[in-house]
Amino acid sequence: ALPKQVRVVEVGPRDGLQNEPGTIATEVKLELIDRLGAAGLRHIEAASFVSPKWVPQMGDAAEVMAGLQRRPGVVYAALTPNLKGFEGAREAGVSEVAVFTAASEAFTQKNINCSIAESLERFAPVIDAAKAADIRVRGYVSTVLGCPYAGEIAPEQVAAVSRELLDMGCYEISLGDTIGVGTPLKAKRMLEAVAKAVPLAQLAAHFHDTYGQALANLYAVLEEGLAVIDSSVAGLGGCPYASGASGNVASEDVVYLLQGLGIETGIDLGRLVETGHWITGRIGRANGSKVGQAMGCG
Ligand code: HMG
Ligand code: MG
Repeated sequence: ALPKQVRVVEVGPRDGLQNEPGTIATEVKLELIDRLGAAGLRHIEAASFVSPKWVPQMGDAAEVMAGLQRRPGVVYAALTPNLKGFEGAREAGVSEVAVFTAASEAFTQKNINCSIAESLERFAPVIDAAKAADIRVRGYVSTVLGCPYAGEIAPEQVAAVSRELLDMGCYEISLGDTIGVGTPLKAKRMLEAVAKAVPLAQLAAHFHDTYGQALANLYAVLEEGLAVIDSSVAGLGGCPYASGASGNVASEDVVYLLQGLGIETGIDLGRLVETGHWITGRIGRANGSKVGQAMGCG
């Protein structure tokens, strides 16, 4: 059955911007995050404490976290691949961190330069330190519906990695269709396999829209009862270690879909659409949200 409420996790400031080649001013990122909060987003992935040599665009993560006008009730999260990243994030005052690995060995190697097992070893001290600092940890599993290097991925492999992250202390596991190759039946089967290992209430869908299937795939997992969706305003983004990967499903399109289904999000669609037009104008990108295009600039 469909959930009554869905929590939308806005990943635009991180996933949406991380692959942008030109430098985006910290003030632009801060205004984006502020506008998203004003539109009613309550969970915003704001930055990424990764190596600036690997992802230069996230090099100002500490400045972004420090400059935030924090709204009460809003979670400002950041990616932290290792203890060095976690220390930076903690000093900058994050409310939540996320560790990230994949269901594919080849992708993990390209993305974070280690094996899946090594990535989990790196996360253990991060999760311990986070627990000590009272910071919640989310876990990402990438390539859940296919890998740009290894092709097909067994749902059981996704389930196994997800379960390990849960056992290590992640409160939620976000399932990434990193290159947007999934289709609804495949997404449903993958979720069914993972839900045998991790309670459905602790799972999120993080679908990229590369092949235009993201909304259909989301509907398939919503029908299974999944109630947390990651999305990116204006459909911004792409993964630096997955060539051809386009942005996440657009937040505007997700909110429109959910409203049509009578599912509560607490998000003001008009303000979100405005924010999509504003940020795409600032960074010179096309607006990847169909709803954004249809509703215009207001
Ligand atoms: P490495 O080179 O193996 O790490 O990188 P290392 O420990 O050997 O360190 C090498 C250098 O990096 C050292 O500096 C470290 O200090 C520095 P040097 O001595 O050469 O000057 N370093 C760091 N600097 C800042 N912050 C850090 C940090 N760690 C080390 N945290 C590492 C390993 C993971 C750091 C690297 O591979 C990396 O940063 N990769 C970036 C991965 C990334 O950001 N990918 C995109 C996000 S994931 C994604 O988009 C998928 C997702 O959206 C879900 C989905 O769609 O599927 C989440
Ligand atoms: Mg992603």
